[in-house]
This record gives sequence, C-alpha cells and structure tokens, in this order.
Amino acid sequence: MLIKAKNLSIAYKNQFVIRDSSFSVNEGDFVFLTGISGSGKTTLIKSIYGELKPYGLLQIGPYDMSKISKSKLTKLRRHMGIVFQDYKLIPEWNILKNVMLPLFIKGFDKKEAEKKAIEILKKVKLSHKIDKFPRELSGGEQQRAAIARAIIHNPAIILADEPISGLDEYSASLVMELFIMANKMGIAVIIASHSLPTDFNIKYRHFHIEKGKVYELS
Ligand SMILES: Nc1ncnc2c1ncn2[C@@H]1O[C@H](COP(=O)(O)OP(=O)(O)OP(=O)(O)O)[C@@H](O)[C@H]1O
Ligand SMILES: [Mg+2]
Repeated sequence: MLIKAKNLSIAYKNQFVIRDSSFSVNEGDFVFLTGISGSGKTTLIKSIYGELKPYGLLQIGPYDMSKISKSKLTKLRRHMGIVFQDYKLIPEWNILKNVMLPLFIKGFDKKEAEKKAIEILKKVKLSHKIDKFPRELSGGEQQRAAIARAIIHNPAIILADEPISGLDEYSASLVMELFIMANKMGIAVIIASHSLPTDFNIKYRHFHIEKGKVYELS
C-alpha cells in the first residue's frame, strides 16, 4: 500500500479542514479527488507532500507523515512528482532546466538529464520553447512544463492539483494523456479537481471531500 490514512485530520492552527478520514491508495492507482472550492483538496495534497503535518495516521510508503524528519521527507519527495495549482516553475531558469530539476536532485549527469528533458518536452509539445523562461509561456504551456517536470524522474506517485482547470481542450487532453501514460508505467496518480472529467476511459477511483470527510465513491 502506497498511502494509508486512518482517522486522518488536517488543520491550519486549530481550524480543522479534514476530519477523521480513512482511506488508502495502492501502487498504480488512478485517483480523482473532487470537492467544492474550499473543501480541502489542496490541503490534503499538501499533507501528502509533507508540507502540512497531519493528525492521526497518514502513512506514505514506510513513513508516518505526522513524525517524518526533514531528511526522510527529502528522501520521500524523490519518489513524488507534484504539480501545484500555481505551477511553481523557477522563474530564473529556462524551461529545459526547470524540467531537468528532479534529475539533478537524483544525481543524473547533465548530458543525460538534458536528453531526457528534451524527450519529455517533445511529448508535451514544448520542443520549441525549451530555452524560454516561464514568464514567456502561456498558462497552458507552463502547466505542461510543470507536468513534464513532475513525471521526468519516474516517481512512484504524482500529485496534481487542478492540473487542467483553465486549460483549453488541446492542452487539457495532452495533459490527461501524459497522466495516463505515467499511470500505465505503474505510477500512482492523484488528481484534485472540481469535477470528474467526461469521456475518461481508463479505470480510476473517485475520492470526494465533503464537510471535512474524505469518502470513496464508486
Ligand atoms: N494557509 C492557510 N491558513 C489557514 N486556512 C487555510 C490556508 N489554506 C487554506 N485554508 C483554508 O482551508 C480550507 C480548504 O482550502 P483548500 O485550499 O484545501 O481548498 P480546495 O478544495 O483546494 O479549494 P479550491 O478548489 O478553491 O482550490 C479553506 O477554508 C481555506 O480557507
Ligand atoms: Mg485547491
């Protein structure tokens, strides 16, 4: 089991957003996490990424996220790919370097990292933008670059927060194809979004947050 939550609660100071929820995610699962704005989707993703300490049990791989040390968290994050709601590309770096980042962290040499980054940028149809800076890209292009960065190092899990909201149909379908491709390689994918996509034809699980509780819907 990749993620196990038991009586999980998450709060900002003493204001609880997620309460007493239990669920689990297995290796290779494709999960959509829905809920209205303010329901706690980003909060839950942040907690899984280790940005927010939870109460109760949130186990990811071998780690208990309520007690994880800084060094263990760094280690764990090497197995995670994350796409934030606001992309978080590094503004001073061009797109190629941004996408290479997880490979630098993994210790790849520059040549090898560059080759992989160019390959993946081709898949997201950004080959012509590799030497541009994030501010020179449209929102959809930045999002595609952020996704390329999230999957380049073959993580065990990809967390994506609203990855297709605000994208046109072309970018949205490219992005979804990438997630499906990653999932077919055995990567677990968790996507937070307001609603489920229409005409999505791979097997997925649906988690929904309502009034602070995470439910699995079938
Ligand atoms: N840093 C913070 N400090 C205090 N409260 C916060 C903080 N971030 C979020 N919240 C509150 O936590 C609740 C859940 O927010 P969250 O961002 O997780 O919602 P969301 O489901 O991702 O919404 P959206 O669909 O709009 O992105 C909201 O009531 C929000 O106001
Ligand atoms: Mg959010």
